[in-house]
Amino acid sequence: MYTVGIITSSDKGYAGEREDKSGEVVREIVEAAGFKVVKQVILPDEKEMLANEFKYMCDELKVNLVLSTGGTGFSKRDITPEATKQVIEREAPGICEAIRWYSLQITKRAMLSRAVSGIRKDTLIVNLPGSPKACKEALDFALNDIKHGIDILLGTAKECARK
Ligand code: MTE
Repeated sequence: MYTVGIITSSDKGYAGEREDKSGEVVREIVEAAGFKVVKQVILPDEKEMLANEFKYMCDELKVNLVLSTGGTGFSKRDITPEATKQVIEREAPGICEAIRWYSLQITKRAMLSRAVSGIRKDTLIVNLPGSPKACKEALDFALNDIKHGIDILLGTAKECARK
């Protein structure tokens, strides 16, 4: 069973002023897909706090996947992609490119997501946008192939069967 860490990046969520619906949506979808959620946390839009949590989940918890939600837009406080870029060792841009490509067919606003994805050691990190709707759309589209990416990263992929 693959393990996952979930980070919600939201000043309001961290302050208890907004319910974290996105983190819950992410949890439901990954659990339904057979992942075990090892840690789920809400953090403010602070680069160092986010980077430290990414590092903790990758280096100490050694989860297979870290999914973040929020902080990928243009508002002044949105900093999740920068925190992610600070910790990844190898870029994996195709995942977020594919999610943006798919999402653009749902809403042109998807062009405003600055989400990034990459690898740190044995962990794949993927940024998701902040809304529960966007998280569901992105994961319904990409999670199965993300799983295959984890298989390849771990060296457990049997074959690269295309759908
Ligand atoms: N992607 C999907 N699939 N569906 C959506 O509704 N909303 C977009 C985008 N990506 C959206 C989406 C919007 S409105 C914005 S501003 C950006 O994600 C950035 O979101 P964030 O700032 O909440 O992270």
